[in-house]
Amino acid sequence: MDEATTEADGTRNVPATIVSAASSPANTNAPVIEWVGESDGWLRLLDQTLLPCETKTIDCRSVEQVVEAIRSLRVRGAPAIGVAAAYGVVVGLRESASADRAQFDEQMRVITQQLAESRPTAVNLFWALDRQRRVAERSATALPTDVLKALLAEARAIELDDRAMCAAIGQYGTELLNDGNTVLTHCNAGALATAGDGTALAVIYAAVAAGKMIRVFADETRPLLQGSRLTAWELSRRGIPVTVICDSMAATVMRQRKVQAVIVGADRIAANGDTANKIGTYSVACLAKTHGLPFYVAAPSSTFDLSLANGEQIPIEERSPTEITHGFGRQTAPDGIDVYNPAFDVTPAELITAIITERGLIRPVTAEAIRTLLTSGS
Ligand code: MRU
Repeated sequence: MDEATTEADGTRNVPATIVSAASSPANTNAPVIEWVGESDGWLRLLDQTLLPCETKTIDCRSVEQVVEAIRSLRVRGAPAIGVAAAYGVVVGLRESASADRAQFDEQMRVITQQLAESRPTAVNLFWALDRQRRVAERSATALPTDVLKALLAEARAIELDDRAMCAAIGQYGTELLNDGNTVLTHCNAGALATAGDGTALAVIYAAVAAGKMIRVFADETRPLLQGSRLTAWELSRRGIPVTVICDSMAATVMRQRKVQAVIVGADRIAANGDTANKIGTYSVACLAKTHGLPFYVAAPSSTFDLSLANGEQIPIEERSPTEITHGFGRQTAPDGIDVYNPAFDVTPAELITAIITERGLIRPVTAEAIRTLLTSGS
């Protein structure tokens, strides 16, 4: 088997070991993220760069492989990045279980730094690394083998928490959709982006489970096509009618009253509700306002960053120009042309009708409403 794979931007590289391949996306149940074994185990990921044509998993047995998988979007979506990073800490410390505690702590510092530098925008990554850091600090006098076990338990807890948050977001969001509605979504905020059913797509899955007929328009989501490659793949596998459109068609679809609501996910939400999500989300929010449509953001509390007053402070990842000039292996722009490729944009809070969280709805979206909801009961 050829273990070198092709990046979404056409670059070749050799990632973690590819361990399995299913003949068709429709008949595989490959998990998005899976920990194999105990504290000497490894991280198995569904390689999302290959979807929708191939469903292969990769095994990450070193922190470098986990970092590479996050950076190249083999695992992606804010909550999934957080879960992968939490397990990445365990992967990176496996070899240090027999070291003395000082060496173990130094290795923990090095690998959390490596993981923190993999992608800058999704705050769930830093949230998960912080949870792991606190576990190590709490067991300051424990043996490395015991700390490693505690770190694995925490990674599993982060995964389970995320699954529960997705389910609760789905339940809270259901009331926003009526039977017969068609929803427009951007990027992929579904099961492929989380440990559970997703955030934006969890609302759709929950509404369907509640007996409502829901259709979806999926923006293709240039340049890496998470909408057409991933959202259309996962919705169609779950029997939800989905229509793919180019990003530039959203205005027309809204003007033609083909959609009744927009629901998207988020990578980081500032204290005032300004929301970073996949590039193009801000355009969709402006279009929704122009056409009088509700614009909903679905996100767990792990996606909020109350240390940032507003969206201007959210770090926005810029990615390789080749994602635009050589998307999926074909050159589509002149040699040497100047390119700007921010991976995310920020939608101002005033364009967001409501934020759907696992603790309930934030509506209207104000700093006070966010603070009240996030600090209640915690
Ligand atoms: O670059 P990606 O594919 O990681 O971007 C993903 C998104 O922008 C999602 O909408 C967001 O992370 C929410 S996923 C529940």
